[in-house]
Amino acid sequence: ADGDATKGANVFKKCMACHAVGEGAKNKVGPELNGIVGRKMGAVEGFNYSDTLKEHGAKGDTWTAEQLSTYLANPRQAMPGVKMVFAGLPKEDDRNDLIAFLSQFDAS
Ligand code: HEM
Repeated sequence: ADGDATKGANVFKKCMACHAVGEGAKNKVGPELNGIVGRKMGAVEGFNYSDTLKEHGAKGDTWTAEQLSTYLANPRQAMPGVKMVFAGLPKEDDRNDLIAFLSQFDAS
């Protein structure tokens, strides 16, 4: 909510070792993130998710902006069992800016 997508592009540099977004984005260490806001959890074809994300997907859970913010603040505390090795983004502004940036990319 109310994030600055331009600043968010800069925050996304912290994710780029493992994630791609945008036209032609491929899975890397993590799944591609096109359309992630509103996307079903654990749902990218060909990506080998943890059981945790597979189970959320099987229940039909989707990534809302609010859930993404909670998750990204501290991934493994928010969602035990997830295999994303990332400390998290403690600043709410960074999370809001990042989510505004990610919202620009529709599912491909
Ligand atoms: C999963 C976002 C940083 C590796 C995910 C998911 C999201 C996400 C939304 C779930 C995707 C889905 O359900 O399809 C981000 C963002 C990051 C970030 C926005 C930066 C702020 C990283 C980093 C790594 C990483 C740095 C690697 C060191 C992974 C992996 C998964 C994942 C392996 C799959 C987890 C599992 O199956 O349990 N990420 N991520 N991510 N991410 Fe990240």
